[in-house]
Amino acid sequence: MMIPTTDKVRWGMLGTGFIAERLANAFTETRRATLVAIASRSLERAEAFAQKHDIHRAYPSYDELLADTDIEAVLIALPNALHAHWTICAAEAKKHVLCEKPLALNANECTAMIDACGANGVLLMEAAMYRFQPQIEHVLRLIDDGAIGEPRLFYGAFCFPFTDTSNIRYNKSLGGGCLFDMGFYPVDFAKLIAGAMPDGAVAFAHYHPECDVEIIAGGSMHFPTGMIALFECAFQTDVRTYVEIIGDEAEIQMPDPWTSRGTRKEVLLIRQREVVESFDLPDPNSYALEIDHFSECIRT
Ligand SMILES: NC(=O)c1ccc[n+]([C@@H]2O[C@H](COP(=O)([O-])OP(=O)(O)OC[C@H]3O[C@@H](n4cnc5c(N)ncnc54)[C@H](OP(=O)(O)O)[C@@H]3O)[C@@H](O)[C@H]2O)c1
Repeated sequence: MMIPTTDKVRWGMLGTGFIAERLANAFTETRRATLVAIASRSLERAEAFAQKHDIHRAYPSYDELLADTDIEAVLIALPNALHAHWTICAAEAKKHVLCEKPLALNANECTAMIDACGANGVLLMEAAMYRFQPQIEHVLRLIDDGAIGEPRLFYGAFCFPFTDTSNIRYNKSLGGGCLFDMGFYPVDFAKLIAGAMPDGAVAFAHYHPECDVEIIAGGSMHFPTGMIALFECAFQTDVRTYVEIIGDEAEIQMPDPWTSRGTRKEVLLIRQREVVESFDLPDPNSYALEIDHFSECIRT
């Protein structure tokens, strides 16, 4: 069904960096959303970004975009340490907020963001785009249907070599470090599988000597269901991405659980070390699915 342009949610975005590029590209595939404005700390960057992505309005400050009463929802595509401040500003300007992961740096910031959105009657969602991949829905359904029995152990990793110390990921005051950047994924997915928050957690981290952000981290969490999750993340190892969910009857293996590449995703169901079933799943643009999902929540 075609959605008339006038019924699409009108979005603005704060920031013009790496993820802003991906999100702007995703709007070309959304059915329920249109990107009408971009804001940067620099007018030049905003105008260049707007021209590249065919966006109608370019603002030289985040405040000016938030003052635009035509905009219904904003994407916060800024460094982690700025998520709380700009989410609260956006809520006070009556905009719904889709904020990049991790939502904030600590629980107090998250509570303040949730409270501000609640008080202003707008929706808030953390942009965990991996959750919108068909393979995630498929795995959750397999578990719900009892394909592996009770989930007992979760192993998850997201590591890749990333050594540019001028990047925000190496900036402590902007919320850098591999735990927020990549550890987010296995930690979030383990919570989704358990359907609960952990009731215990331990972690170890190795820090960059000058930047003082963690560059290799690993840890474990215990959940009230009895499931134990082990996770790894790193900026300074070879590429490593996987999830294994071990139940008391069988296990699920996901070799490529996090990023969508527009190819296909393989999910394996294994029992007694034998592959029982192999699923070949589509891999559409999960950013577009995420934006459409949130737009639909706004409209309903
Ligand atoms: N969901 C995903 O797949 C995914 C992937 C990567 C990153 N992320 C998340 O997206 C957020 C941004 O990451 P990124 O990789 O896009 O970072 P980035 O490339 O460095 O872009 C961040 C943008 O924030 C703006 N900004 C405002 N204050 C800044 C400051 N003090 N220093 C640097 N930039 C500042 C800049 O835009 P202007 O100067 O134009 O205003 C900059 O382009 C993070 O929260 C990250 O966790 C999500």
